[in-house]
Amino acid sequence: MSFEVADTLDMSTPDAKRASYDLLVAQVHAVLEGERDWLANLAQFSALVYQSVPRLNWAGFYMARGEELVVGPFQGKVACVRIPFTRGVCGACARTREIQRVEDVHAFPGHIACDSASAAELVLPVVVGERLVAVFDLDSPARGRFDAEDARGFAAAVAVLAAGTDWA
Ligand code: SME
Repeated sequence: MSFEVADTLDMSTPDAKRASYDLLVAQVHAVLEGERDWLANLAQFSALVYQSVPRLNWAGFYMARGEELVVGPFQGKVACVRIPFTRGVCGACARTREIQRVEDVHAFPGHIACDSASAAELVLPVVVGERLVAVFDLDSPARGRFDAEDARGFAAAVAVLAAGTDWA
């Protein structure tokens, strides 16, 4: 596959951000085309996001395994391996199956600090049919980094991934 990934998407204005998420979604389609293996697709998705979305210090998956999350493909520093559904921002996402958008992680009760540089976090559920298969976790060193437009943009990207992947 030969494929050019935009190195840094422009998110400096609301209009630029919307256009950048449209481009990200198109790139997810292109990167995943012809491949449905979950491990390959999650690795590629993490790399695409980390490479092209500005101001992130971690991007990747925690896989749902019973009542626990286990780290999956990601980009960034070594992270905690297992997170019970009862803990942290990722656990709250797994429990509620709702997007968790945290402007200041230090103000979030129970936040699990894998990297002290992280200041803001966005976690999206990956639900296929009735089943929670994973959560997609994004960390940023910039407080308030993620707004509602980021949440919408990543939800669209995750939906393409969920539909384009065979989950084990
Ligand atoms: N901060 C997360 C833990 C995972 S790391 O950020 C990679 C949480 O509170 O669930």
